[in-house]
Amino acid sequence: MRVLVLNGPNLRRLGTREPSIYGAETFDDLVKLCRKTGEELGYDVEVRQTDDEATMIGWLHEAADGKIPVVLNPAAFTHYSYGLRDAASQRTAPLIEVHISNPHAREEFRHTSVVSAVATGTIAGFGMQSYVLALRALAAL
Ligand code: DQA
Repeated sequence: MRVLVLNGPNLRRLGTREPSIYGAETFDDLVKLCRKTGEELGYDVEVRQTDDEATMIGWLHEAADGKIPVVLNPAAFTHYSYGLRDAASQRTAPLIEVHISNPHAREEFRHTSVVSAVATGTIAGFGMQSYVLALRALAAL
């Protein structure tokens, strides 16, 4: 089965971006980890990243039309993008929201997710392992 792992703004800069919060591993490391986990679970995992809201919304429409499960790290879009939320709410397959950090342990503006209520569930705070747990959660559903 195909799974899309969709990443929002600034996540391609993993490794150099605030490593004390997001760790030293790079986006390429994340791609490898997701693909390896996917192989173990029998999934064909495709990992994408965009800084552009319209592109992300288009990918969510693609997933909805194709009934494709999604692991979504909406990054900063999490906190304010109703457009993204409305796209996620059209899902036709499970959608797991993930975060590398624990947004609830950080600044106040990160405590709100406009996506959580339309996701199947949320996994946050486990570093890149959040993605592994999300893929396993998809398998467990
Ligand atoms: C993040 C948390 C968000 O608050 C932040 O804007 C990100 C990354 C995470 O994975 O921890 O860009 O989604």
